Amino acid sequence: MALVAANHIKKQFGDVLAVNDISLSVHDGEFLVLLGPSGCGKTTFLRILAGLEHQTSGDILIGGEVVNDVPPRARGIAMVFQSYGLYPHLTVANNIAFPLRTQNTPRAEIARKVEWATRLLSIDHLLNRKPRQLSGGERQRVALARALVREPTVFLLDEPLSNLDAKLRTSARNELKQFQQTVQTSTVYVTHDQVEAMGMGDRIAVIDHGRLRQIGTPTEIYDRPADEFVATFLGTPPMNLVERDGGSLGFRPEHFLPREMLKNGSALAEMPFRVERMEYLGSERVLYGTIEGMKAKRVVTAKLPAHAASDGIRAGDLHPFAVRASELHYFGRDGRRAEGGQGVLQ
Ligand SMILES: Nc1ncnc2c1ncn2[C@@H]1O[C@H](COP(=O)(O)OP(=O)(O)OP(=O)(O)O)[C@@H](O)[C@H]1O
Ligand SMILES: [Mg+2]
Repeated sequence: MALVAANHIKKQFGDVLAVNDISLSVHDGEFLVLLGPSGCGKTTFLRILAGLEHQTSGDILIGGEVVNDVPPRARGIAMVFQSYGLYPHLTVANNIAFPLRTQNTPRAEIARKVEWATRLLSIDHLLNRKPRQLSGGERQRVALARALVREPTVFLLDEPLSNLDAKLRTSARNELKQFQQTVQTSTVYVTHDQVEAMGMGDRIAVIDHGRLRQIGTPTEIYDRPADEFVATFLGTPPMNLVERDGGSLGFRPEHFLPREMLKNGSALAEMPFRVERMEYLGSERVLYGTIEGMKAKRVVTAKLPAHAASDGIRAGDLHPFAVRASELHYFGRDGRRAEGGQGVLQ
């Protein structure tokens, strides 16, 4: 049974349909990532799960029971906000103890839980500090500890790393993932960063304009995107799309290779590539250009290992490139994935 389930959730704010018929479930112990661009409805959906916002229609179930009218405190859900929401005048210890005090938890138990959570998150040396005396990463851990002492069934984390700089973000991401694996509490994690989603999620739910576009493991989402939106939202650079029979044909930059790098004998889609610009990224090179002879000129990218047989390719060159047929993605007129069909490049 799903621990938490959303059934046909809609949320209307005046004219804005912020959440448009989302159904999904969170499994026991899983790390589910909600991924989507700014304004697509991630926070709104999370707040509905937590009970902080009421859905216009649809049901939220926890442990099989409909909880639409159950207030946030009674849902067994702890939410960590992007801004952390720490009380500036309280010490770290008192911030963490706060939710337990409001529940009249006995003192000895509060002390035990605060000690346990702060040890687990390596902030037990910061107990007497105020939030302003902490780094961004430390504040995040205090906010997590405060959620943890409530021993929730589910953690909801709304872009908890977005205030951190790139380096701290990477280490905080690893810590957070490790922490979740230790406590094994089901977690719904919101981000608009696809790298974070790919690296952290057991499954990813991709959302656009309030709609759930696809839910699956990072591999499923990357290797078999359900539509053009998902195909181009994940991957750096994103998947190339070229027109074909009214729909489109997609291939990832790392699959678009100089013809000589692909073996003879395998089924290939060959395309003459006019290289216009190159970017050297250390371990890789990204080539930007267009496919010669194609009616609609679109920028196409190729991503090659920096030291490949293709080292001789220069900006301005017209070079034969190809993609293995098995690595082509077909999308129909409606933008949705279509199986098979070689189609004609235009
Ligand atoms: N209280 C509100 N009243 C009216 N419109 C709202 C309200 N809250 C959110 N919206 C609108 O609903 C849509 C979804 O907002 P939401 O905050 O859920 O997006 P998000 O995916 O979390 O975006 P971000 O990545 O920028 O945080 C947006 O168009 C937003 O302007
Ligand atoms: Mg948000």
